[in-house]
Amino acid sequence: MHPDPHTVLPVSADWWRSAVFYQIYVRSFADGNGDGVGDLTGIRSRLSYLADLGVDALWITPFYPSPMADHGYDVADPRDVEPVFGDLAEFDALLTDAHRLGVRVTIDLVPNHSSHDHEWFQAALTAAPGSPERARYLFREGRGPDGSEPPNNWPSVFGGPAWTRVPDGQWYLHIFAPEQPDLNFANPEVVADLEETMRFWLDRGVDGFRIDVAHGMAKPEGLPDMVPMEDTGLLADHGPGDLRFDQDGVHVVHRRIRAVLDEYPGTMAVGEVWVSDDARLAQYLREDELQLAFNFKLLTADWTVSDLRDAVTDSLAAVSGSPAPACWVLSNHDRPRHVTRYGGGELGTRRAKAAALLQLALPGAAYIYNGDELGMPDVDLPDEALQDPIWERSGHTERGRDACRIPMPWSGSEPSYGFSSQADTWLPMPAGWAALTPEAQAADPASIQSLYRSALTLRASSPAFAGDGLDWVPAPDGCLAFRRPGGLVCLVNLSGAAIPLPEGQVLLASADLGDGTLPHDSAVWLQA
Ligand code: GLC
Repeated sequence: MHPDPHTVLPVSADWWRSAVFYQIYVRSFADGNGDGVGDLTGIRSRLSYLADLGVDALWITPFYPSPMADHGYDVADPRDVEPVFGDLAEFDALLTDAHRLGVRVTIDLVPNHSSHDHEWFQAALTAAPGSPERARYLFREGRGPDGSEPPNNWPSVFGGPAWTRVPDGQWYLHIFAPEQPDLNFANPEVVADLEETMRFWLDRGVDGFRIDVAHGMAKPEGLPDMVPMEDTGLLADHGPGDLRFDQDGVHVVHRRIRAVLDEYPGTMAVGEVWVSDDARLAQYLREDELQLAFNFKLLTADWTVSDLRDAVTDSLAAVSGSPAPACWVLSNHDRPRHVTRYGGGELGTRRAKAAALLQLALPGAAYIYNGDELGMPDVDLPDEALQDPIWERSGHTERGRDACRIPMPWSGSEPSYGFSSQADTWLPMPAGWAALTPEAQAADPASIQSLYRSALTLRASSPAFAGDGLDWVPAPDGCLAFRRPGGLVCLVNLSGAAIPLPEGQVLLASADLGDGTLPHDSAVWLQA
């Protein structure tokens, strides 16, 4: 028996308000059993690395039984562990070890859809139209004289129509891949099952959830046609005409989710809410709904003063009327990594270091995607290596998200760089990554990993980070600077040239300050 995980970490109602979370894309973090795919044993073996790095909590992406049509976001059984990733005993051991190290554990909850392999969907396929089995999903008759047209014009986020026809002629809705049928949240049985899944994991001691497609779930009455739109923006916010997302009924579900969390003091949920309208986003953050919602504005901002400044200002404005703090993200498993977005190579890494100081100086919670701390870039993969369903669904016009999901390098000089005991990994790792590994970076005080470690130590210990909010302060052209109430000043130089350092005691810099100047594409923290 493992010790009760609740007894290890103190219950603190709002530990998440300024926490630094570390996103583990389970397939790509660490492989413990040598099959080339990351797993729970691999995560467990790297927990001390994460504790040393200084993160407060983990978000582990789905590790539930799944046929992997969308790499685990197609869940066949939300209350078990996929054998490729381990088993429940291994999960419990991971949770206990993490808590012992002072690291909290949050996991993905995927309510909007199940896998087509879920027993409910299998039962729905063999049941008759109009049956209770079909009422857990969104089955409809087609349009046109013989019903051979989809019930409405909704596109799938992954390309093609959002409907697939079954042999008896009915169609079912899938906002994502056909292997991910949407559940019917107007059916109380569906909501009850979600609550059961939450309790299953909360009883084991998890500290919270990341809620997948948290702006999905509710569908409009009658499933009317939506404003036709090009559906190229993967997981983008398509705005108010997009009837697939952000329907008012979704808040009923969030209140149910929150009510369950409230039975487990100290637990929380963060939502993946792709809603750019500030007032609508804030609705998800009401007192009885989500504690956090990702601010995707930094994730989509270019490396320009105006983009970064707007991203910060708008994100703070979005949460200003709600009880929630902001929640900052530079990269995740769905978008190009920021080293690459910022130009790649040395320049991309240099900017990524500066961005780390920007992100970690902001008030609120922050999410680090595994490999951010190593400066991992995207990798261009050959066609035959691509695995994301988007590649097939788009008729090979969109390459999908594999480039940002390459396994993490840990040590050594050749693939798989200590990720696995074998060289072959589920997505191939490139040559030339020896310098990216923690083994190589740990000893170098100028590495991006050392910067992250110092930044997280300071953030956790320095009174300069106290207080909510920030004030923009004057900065040279092409730079941005803000001050936190505790006295922290963060200055980012995007001017293309070195600038004089302002007054104040330097706490940390993303580049060598040498002659008392802040070089281009770098950032500094000062106590002023
Ligand atoms: C979320 C996940 C993404 C997944 C999709 C469907 O956006 O982040 O990876 O493909 O939901 O579950």
